[in-house]
Amino acid sequence: MKTLICYFSGTGNTKKVVDKYAQQFEENGWEIDLQNIEKEMTFDCSDYDSIGIAYPVHAFNAPSIVVDFCKKLPKLQEKKQLYIIKTSGEPLKINNISSTKIKRILKRKNYVLQNEYHYVMPYNMIFRHSNAMAYKMWNTAERLIPIDCKEIIDKKETKLSYFPLSTPISWVMRIEHWGGRFNGKKYKVNEKCVHCQKCVRDCPTHNITIDEEGNFHFGNNCLMCMRCSFMCPVDAFKIGWFNSWKVNGKYVFDDPDNTEQKSHKNFCKHSYKKYFKKSEEKISKNAEKSNTENKKDVKI
Ligand SMILES: Cc1cc2nc3c(=O)[nH]c(=O)nc-3n(C[C@H](O)[C@H](O)[C@H](O)COP(=O)(O)O)c2cc1C
Repeated sequence: MKTLICYFSGTGNTKKVVDKYAQQFEENGWEIDLQNIEKEMTFDCSDYDSIGIAYPVHAFNAPSIVVDFCKKLPKLQEKKQLYIIKTSGEPLKINNISSTKIKRILKRKNYVLQNEYHYVMPYNMIFRHSNAMAYKMWNTAERLIPIDCKEIIDKKETKLSYFPLSTPISWVMRIEHWGGRFNGKKYKVNEKCVHCQKCVRDCPTHNITIDEEGNFHFGNNCLMCMRCSFMCPVDAFKIGWFNSWKVNGKYVFDDPDNTEQKSHKNFCKHSYKKYFKKSEEKISKNAEKSNTENKKDVKI
């Protein structure tokens, strides 16, 4: 069997999850190809048994680059299995609605949604999670992915539930798609800049240019993915109206140091607790099931 995951990742969280999926598919004997949505499409969907779409939630929606990519995907002659993988900074149920638009587009083209999974990963905007929290999030996702990947392989349908009010909220929040473009023009780089031009090279829409005098120019195509300001090695960015929500610097995912100060320890406390509890339940239920199956195999 052969699968293709088409992904977008602003600052690496979604890519981290996608890489773990790729490893799991391979371990289960599946062939897997990865298509970065930012780049030109190099694969033909009709060559695959199933297609995955992976993205970070932006304002309770899929980023515009993902929506545009889905619009460009070819209509298939026959129905094909579709799975969606997404990451977001908080586990609020309203994030479950984020795939509505792409699901509608893809359904018309014969991509039939069978599984959708949502992993909580550290915020790349709004505030910085502690490294201990980043560790906990990744440690949870890392143990869920093998189980979820097996569900995709076994064609065990899994969908995310949402409450009806999510629909109008997510619809209104799609304002982010053009609001981001407008805000992107307000980005500034301060005197800390060392002119490494990492931001220019890495911008997914080539929206940043530097003129001969070394002045930065920001075009109309900002996706608000935060790659430029998050990855800036000297934290030289000002991100327009949302500057107080800026997060700079990669997370450390392998440091479970719980003594670290958590400045937002009460933010969505119950939602995170529920997410981790539900995840642990799924992980232990799966471990019990495998133990029983192993025992049966030994008896045979
Ligand atoms: C513009 C923007 C909007 C976001 N909106 C949401 C949101 O609505 N809900 C949420 O939980 N996280 C939100 N986040 C956080 C990201 O979804 C989260 O950090 C994600 O894991 C980033 O993935 P990436 O590194 O692959 O880009 C937002 C981030 C950005 C930059």
